[in-house]
Amino acid sequence: MTGIERHAHITGWGRYAPAQVLTNADLERMVDTDDEWIVTRTGIRERRVAAAHETTASMGAVAGRRAIAVAGLDPDAIDLILVATLTPDYWMPSTAALVKEAIGNTRAAAMDVSAACSGFVYAYSTAQAYIAGGLARHVLVIGAELLSRFLDYTDRSTCILFGDGAGAVVVSASDAPGGGLGVELTTEPQGAYMIWLPAGGAKSPPSTETIARGEHYIRMEGKETYRFATRTLASTALAAIARSGLRPDDIDLFIPHQANIRIIEAVAKGLGLPMDKMFVNVDRYGNTSAASVPIALAEAVDSGRVKVGDRIVFVAFGAGFTSGAAVVEWTADPARGRLAETIRPEDISVRLPVDWDSVDPIPPALAEIMARPVVPGVELDLSDVAPGEPEPAHEHAVR
Ligand code: ACO
Repeated sequence: MTGIERHAHITGWGRYAPAQVLTNADLERMVDTDDEWIVTRTGIRERRVAAAHETTASMGAVAGRRAIAVAGLDPDAIDLILVATLTPDYWMPSTAALVKEAIGNTRAAAMDVSAACSGFVYAYSTAQAYIAGGLARHVLVIGAELLSRFLDYTDRSTCILFGDGAGAVVVSASDAPGGGLGVELTTEPQGAYMIWLPAGGAKSPPSTETIARGEHYIRMEGKETYRFATRTLASTALAAIARSGLRPDDIDLFIPHQANIRIIEAVAKGLGLPMDKMFVNVDRYGNTSAASVPIALAEAVDSGRVKVGDRIVFVAFGAGFTSGAAVVEWTADPARGRLAETIRPEDISVRLPVDWDSVDPIPPALAEIMARPVVPGVELDLSDVAPGEPEPAHEHAVR
């Protein structure tokens, strides 16, 4: 490639959400909680749960393939595949390696990015840097999570928050102006044990004891995490906006990490902006960690909230503690989102190992819910997606 093709433009976007819905009413039957508590404290009404045959790689591959279709590329045009996840299929190989094969790419380098819920922003920034450095022309950036298999469905403080899903973008080099602008990434290790998964790593390898203690599940200090998020998100976004030579008023839409509506409201307040500048879908997906920003971005574009020339900001926080923000001047035709329809999940599969029988991956507490029929049409219907008038973000949240 030539030295002048150094602007990084988002040319494709896609999302995938598993069909099965886990509502607050379902959780009421599993733990001591209620819909009103969950909605008031978090804004979450329902979240998606992956089926037994689905994995982080399979969901990421569908979202990734959709993003490639929207970009109008052949899968083999992708030079680098980055998968942001805290729930990889395996410790090794990388989930990105499995995605590469599933999408039919033979050329790309592939690796995972580990920055918890900030993972997509970190991975997107890495793509931007590869393009700016002339190392790649087309980068597929995926955020994919299968959190339901790492949750303790007896712990009401965590199991109500999280959901499964995947989102993706294709970032492409171009000599046209626009695309990726300023980036800010932070890591504050004093928060390292505020959200963590204690066992399974080198410090505490899995054993019957670690499993008996439930150390293979996500643990979280909710209040400390909340404090970090409300302190950091606005300042991280402001730093990225300043690096872009812009002011908060210049931003048309923020795509914040969808962890909690109250945290998103605090960001809007911190930036002195109205809530209609914040895209919100936490009510329908819960916190999908690294998948949340790309799912929200794809929904925002496909629902007409983004037009060519808009300046948008991705901003996220997560375990580490990490945070990240990236400013993008949107240059793609939003109507291309329709091309995602051409990719059907049943046509994409992740190759399984030979001679290895996995145990049933569905957490027992979810088995009954997963066995019930899926309501037809629950999978995101992309056929009627047409850019139109933006809906105020808070209407999603209070619906
Ligand atoms: N239903 C009913 N009551 C509950 C529930 C529940 N699901 N969960 C907790 N409670 C109770 C608590 O036991 C407590 O009761 P007590 O007063 O008798 O002790 C009471 O509700 C208040 O609990 P708090 O923890 O103080 O509630 P808070 O208002 O802080 O809300 C929440 C909790 C929603 C978890 C909030 O702290 C939060 O959103 N934190 C941020 C979490 C987050 O975003 N994490 C994702 C990080 S991203 C990543 O990298 C994975």
